[in-house]
Amino acid sequence: MALFATMEQVQRPEFRLRSFRLRGDRMTKAQSEALVQHWNRFEVPLQGVLKPRELFPSMNPKEVVFEIGSGMGEATSQIAASNPETAYVAVEVHKPGLGALIIRAENLGVRNLKIINADIYEVLTKHLSDHSIDAFHIFFPDPWPKRKQHKRRLLQPNFIEILATKLKHGGRINIATDWYPYAQEIEKSFASNPDFTGGVIPRPDWRPLTKFESKGITKEHVVTDFEFQRR
Ligand SMILES: C[S@@+](CC[C@H](N)C(=O)[O-])C[C@H]1O[C@@H](n2cnc3c(N)ncnc32)[C@H](O)[C@@H]1O
Repeated sequence: MALFATMEQVQRPEFRLRSFRLRGDRMTKAQSEALVQHWNRFEVPLQGVLKPRELFPSMNPKEVVFEIGSGMGEATSQIAASNPETAYVAVEVHKPGLGALIIRAENLGVRNLKIINADIYEVLTKHLSDHSIDAFHIFFPDPWPKRKQHKRRLLQPNFIEILATKLKHGGRINIATDWYPYAQEIEKSFASNPDFTGGVIPRPDWRPLTKFESKGITKEHVVTDFEFQRR
């Protein structure tokens, strides 16, 4: 390891983002049993540089989609079950959510899903080559509604630049949020990034209506869907 930072390191401090809440790892019995029984089959160990297609040796996937923040896995498991020819990699920091995702995936007989239990920032910056990902799904990223928390929002210009670097040319990002001020910020940040085209789209019929989304709708939150293409 170098003893002294290079000029480049001094001039460009590393962008760092803590976009998630630390909620603890308490889980239900069913979630911990699912992790004990099936984790080996879903887990992607974070070592070296990952080759997305090689994570699925028994299939020849049409494409590999990374989902950022799969939460309790309701949308993840249903989308994977409905699209068996596409491979999905769910990235989530919250372990109980991963237990819930595995239960759902097992119940639906999903075989085209892998899981990474880590911060997406680490995964993208340290374990994936540039232009290696076909698509990202980012559904209901934490809105961090208070003004002083806005800096923790995942979808901000620096992170959007990282997404652009990792996407293949012609790749895409699907986003949904039920927090209108965040939707406005997302629209502005993508519009000012020359690597992307696209914007607001009607709700895609392939995105399942989850309990999380339904709760927001009950509170009269407006849901905005986006699709952006990497030039
Ligand atoms: C509001 S939840 C939405 C979950 C799910 N997509 C849904 O629609 O129900 C946001 C999720 O993103 C995860 N998350 C936030 N930042 C993350 C990061 N940097 N890396 C991985 N997961 C992250 C959180 O742990 C949380 O489960």
